[in-house]
Amino acid sequence: MSDEIDTDAVPSTVLSGIRATGRLHFGNFMGAVRHFVEYQKPGIRSMYFIADLHTLTTLRDPEELRSNVLEITKDYLAAGLDPDQSVIYAQSSVPEIMELSLLLSMLQPVGQLQAIPTFKDKVRKQPNDVNLGLLSYPVLMAADILGPRATLVPVGEDQRPNVELARNLAERFNNRFGKLFTLPEMLLEMVKVPGLDGEKMGKSEADNAINLDAPIEDIRKRYLRLGITDPERIRASDPGDPFNRCRAVYPLHEMITLGEHDSREIATACQNATIGCVECKNRLVESIAVLIEPFQERRRELASQDALVREVLHEGGKKARQIITETTAIVRDKMGIVIY
Ligand code: ADP
Ligand code: TRP
Repeated sequence: MSDEIDTDAVPSTVLSGIRATGRLHFGNFMGAVRHFVEYQKPGIRSMYFIADLHTLTTLRDPEELRSNVLEITKDYLAAGLDPDQSVIYAQSSVPEIMELSLLLSMLQPVGQLQAIPTFKDKVRKQPNDVNLGLLSYPVLMAADILGPRATLVPVGEDQRPNVELARNLAERFNNRFGKLFTLPEMLLEMVKVPGLDGEKMGKSEADNAINLDAPIEDIRKRYLRLGITDPERIRASDPGDPFNRCRAVYPLHEMITLGEHDSREIATACQNATIGCVECKNRLVESIAVLIEPFQERRRELASQDALVREVLHEGGKKARQIITETTAIVRDKMGIVIY
């Protein structure tokens, strides 16, 4: 078993996951899920999972967790993930990921984990409630990635430190035990979608997210009421600064309003005060609607199809397990562990 393996024989594998903390929002869609769909194509093995074990670091209600896993799987399917083209699974359906995580943890300096911004943030915000899972979170994530020997990991900008840590771990393993892993790459352009308050759109704390299943008119109301624009633009006749001062609205136009021409035209109009923030927000909501309406239609059809979703996860879990078990066995063997 200790022969060098031919990594060229491993197909190009795209892999990503999302925690089961609630329903998906527009940031998840732009930063992650839309890329998941793009990479479903011949010649690429695509694997997308629900990171339910990672969710346990912060969510303690078992009923809610069980339900979130099914709901996010429906979101995946509604966004266009196809079980015939991608392996769709729940992380916990592959217990070998936990084993791999433990094996990899032996190569991971604790200091690097303590320096990860999301961990430092948790320690700052809740110093008396920091479980070990939060510290080892990136090692489990490295096991997710390295188990299927993923070559590309589509995630949003906030996940960069975690993927970098997985790359380091892969390198350390290869140096010590012989080449097994190709280093996983990130997307060339990783985005950070601003929420209504201009901070990173997210599920937690600040109520700044646009849920993917929200009716378009609710999204409009939320932008009109809460979307932060240029705070120095008091009257519609004041020239705005879309690039430096507008926090939540123009930056999103740049990302999603079709074509550079259209978004630049909006920027110029803002600078010349020929468009007001209300119209700008309305145009943004139209751009959002174009992207999410097809999702919403499919999502409604899936709402009551729990049995189908369970079947998708069951079949995906079996496939994922087959792939990941193979790597875990090689890692175990290279590290000197024998199952007697
Ligand atoms: P949240 O931050 O809302 O808890 P997750 O951490 O579960 O969301 O993120 C799942 C995926 O969505 C990750 O790939 C993450 O990078 C991406 N993502 C989350 N929020 C954003 C955002 N505001 N902009 C871009 N990508 C995002
Ligand atoms: N940490 C990721 C997030 O919060 C979720 C995740 C867990 C993940 N394991 C992964 C993403 C492996 C990509 C690859 O969004």
